[in-house]
Amino acid sequence: EDLAKCPFRGTRVGGAIGTSPQIDDWWPNRLQVELLHQEQPVANPLSGENYKEAFNKIDYENLKKDIKELLVNSQEWWPADYNNYGPQMIRMAWHSAGTYRIADGRGGASQGMQRFAPINSWWDNGNTDKSRRLIWPIKKKYGAALSWADLIILTGNCSLEIMGFPTFGYAGGRRDAWEPDRSTYWGPEFWEGKPYDQSLAGQERKGHPDEMVKANLRWIGGPKEKYHDLENPLAATHQALIYVNPEGPEGNGDPQDSARNIRESFKRMAMDDEETVALIAGGHAFGKSHGMVSADKIGAAPEAAPIHAQGLGWNNPVGSGNGINTMTNGIEGSWIPNPTKWDNDYLTNLLKFEWKKIESPVGAIQWTPTDPNAPKTPDAHLDGLLNNLMMMTSDIALKVDPDYKVICERFLNDFDYFTETFSKAWYKLKHRDMGPKDRYLGPEVAKEDLIWQDPIPKLNHDLIDSNDIVRLKSDILNSGLSISALVSAAWSAASIYRDTDKRGGANGARLALDPQNNWEINRPEELNNVLETLKNIQNDFQNGENSNKKVSLADLIVLGGCAAVEKAANNAGVEIEVPFTSGRMDTTQELTDAESFDWLKPVSDGFKNYHNDKVGYRVPPERIFLDRAQLLTLTAPEWTVLVGGLRVLDQNYDHSKHGMFTENTEHLSNDFFKVLTSMDYVWVPQSSDEILFNLNDRKSGATKYTATRCDLIFGSNAQLRNIAEVYAADDGQKRFVKDFVSVWDKVMMLDRYDVKDE
Ligand code: HEM
Repeated sequence: EDLAKCPFRGTRVGGAIGTSPQIDDWWPNRLQVELLHQEQPVANPLSGENYKEAFNKIDYENLKKDIKELLVNSQEWWPADYNNYGPQMIRMAWHSAGTYRIADGRGGASQGMQRFAPINSWWDNGNTDKSRRLIWPIKKKYGAALSWADLIILTGNCSLEIMGFPTFGYAGGRRDAWEPDRSTYWGPEFWEGKPYDQSLAGQERKGHPDEMVKANLRWIGGPKEKYHDLENPLAATHQALIYVNPEGPEGNGDPQDSARNIRESFKRMAMDDEETVALIAGGHAFGKSHGMVSADKIGAAPEAAPIHAQGLGWNNPVGSGNGINTMTNGIEGSWIPNPTKWDNDYLTNLLKFEWKKIESPVGAIQWTPTDPNAPKTPDAHLDGLLNNLMMMTSDIALKVDPDYKVICERFLNDFDYFTETFSKAWYKLKHRDMGPKDRYLGPEVAKEDLIWQDPIPKLNHDLIDSNDIVRLKSDILNSGLSISALVSAAWSAASIYRDTDKRGGANGARLALDPQNNWEINRPEELNNVLETLKNIQNDFQNGENSNKKVSLADLIVLGGCAAVEKAANNAGVEIEVPFTSGRMDTTQELTDAESFDWLKPVSDGFKNYHNDKVGYRVPPERIFLDRAQLLTLTAPEWTVLVGGLRVLDQNYDHSKHGMFTENTEHLSNDFFKVLTSMDYVWVPQSSDEILFNLNDRKSGATKYTATRCDLIFGSNAQLRNIAEVYAADDGQKRFVKDFVSVWDKVMMLDRYDVKDE
């Protein structure tokens, strides 16, 4: 009773201050539909403001001057190593971008996610909280015109420049997130086999009894997993590390093992061997590692730090807690004699000297030259003191691995080539997740088109007008192509868009190019027939035009889908016009990195009832389906209405009938929802794996329809079912068609940064 009176006993009195247990604690395996509703404008104090306009008004030269001055103005509360904050800012910028992973486009620098948990509290991000706090004066001065995400990257560039490195370019345009991202699966909360409690970062790593961890265990197959083989889509080899353990996998100090890890994790980040070596050798040409104080003395990570720490974590109680006592990682020393100058000493020293394993002052594995006459490096804070050079196991990896070594030697012998390769790789690293170049802002955007930008030629012709659109739609519908085939082509083109790194989409007509045109999920044979027919229509149109007016194949693919949806709506008795915005361009095979595009191929896609078991994802299909819906920025109602429409329009990749709860093909009807919510059926798993189901007539027992988990989830999950009921209702048909058309248009336009405002 006393507890109930206390206003701070949230769990007893409930209300907004209640913490656990909450829904997720009780039912950790429920489908988290609410993941679709993150980043609401209500959470963003700047929503509705035009970032592009604001950023473009900045006096950019002055901004860079301000940053460069700040970088060499050491502050007493966190004294700069070598009187230069450059190296620590490069690391901040690298870690901001380095979470990117090509498999789902998540992570990366584009939203400033380093400011929020869990990333802000990863052990590997130790003391980046200080780096961000140091540049607050710049953020403060430019306010809403300069996002944190943009500032973090620009500071990295300015740092390189003040130390003599020529950067390749810089683009602004990153919009900040305003809350932690809950939809990114960073892997299980484990640190090298043991459950890892973020709040204890740096202290003894203990087991985590939390229900959530147990839930995760179920998804990943239990603690016997090899944790340095994080699951397929993740970029890091360890959770809480940006890339790899500097001391080698599980701290084993083995450079060859480390090389394997580096290759794997940089590949997941879309970097090849040459880029990987350039980035590591380039980055470690600056600054130092910090390991003067034992990890168990260090305080909690920012997210768990006491309130008076005001967002700063890893409190270091030794001496001033900084300067000569700085503890970030545990490894101590610098790779190079000139830690604030761009030169080739890192590779010179790495290759020229033999290195032997030693321990840092706090016991971490690191390497030192065997030759006592090897160059020394000045202390970061004590004048006149010279220290031995240092390499990490992950640095030695570059000379132990034969392929990396060849690249190191080439860079060593050709400093200009090394400089150029690092410069371009850095640009890629920083801009990889920004999407089309149309989104790039500022005067320093590199002119050159780069293959990882998925280039699409600029619009170079006049656009079709509304009369042409009417004519083309009727030509397409009269060409003999089915509604199913037309919808499938348009949907296949547009729906591989992912908002995480803004790749994919209908623009460019890459659907007609390798590899997309061959993906099983895109019904390749049928698709090629559609494309051939559309190309004929395109030719006929062009031949009849003497002006500069043209229609791209990309536009025709989308227009075909729009025409088909209109017709299907009409068949179901609803007169409606599907919006269409022309202006897409066709790109070429040469401008398409096929290997990189293959990453966009869905491994599982509920929209087409496609589930490729071979990949070995140990998550149920409906979870991956939710993930795809989130990549497409769909809300729960949008997701639901889309599925209802796609099912009756025969969109399963193999033309199977799962979820096609209708007798009226080519009709955009709400039949899917009517059957789903009807008690006339019982739902029976076809086998114990509960992947496929029969819908049997409750009275006769006869099987009427079949379905997958991705169909039935809309009747099983409470949140989705309530939406399904809206469309199943007697007043639901018109609403269904209207809402379907509106989300259809949304998806067709997702990649149109050439015309839309952000
Ligand atoms: C520092 C590991 C790749 C730039 C460090 C530190 C570690 C580390 C442990 C010391 C942190 C501290 O104690 O302050 C690694 C590993 C890498 C990698 C394992 C990949 C295999 C890179 C890349 C870059 C980079 C790609 C940039 C292009 C830096 C810089 C510092 C640093 C500039 C010095 C920071 C300072 O002086 O405060 N790295 N790193 N590193 N790293 Fe890396």
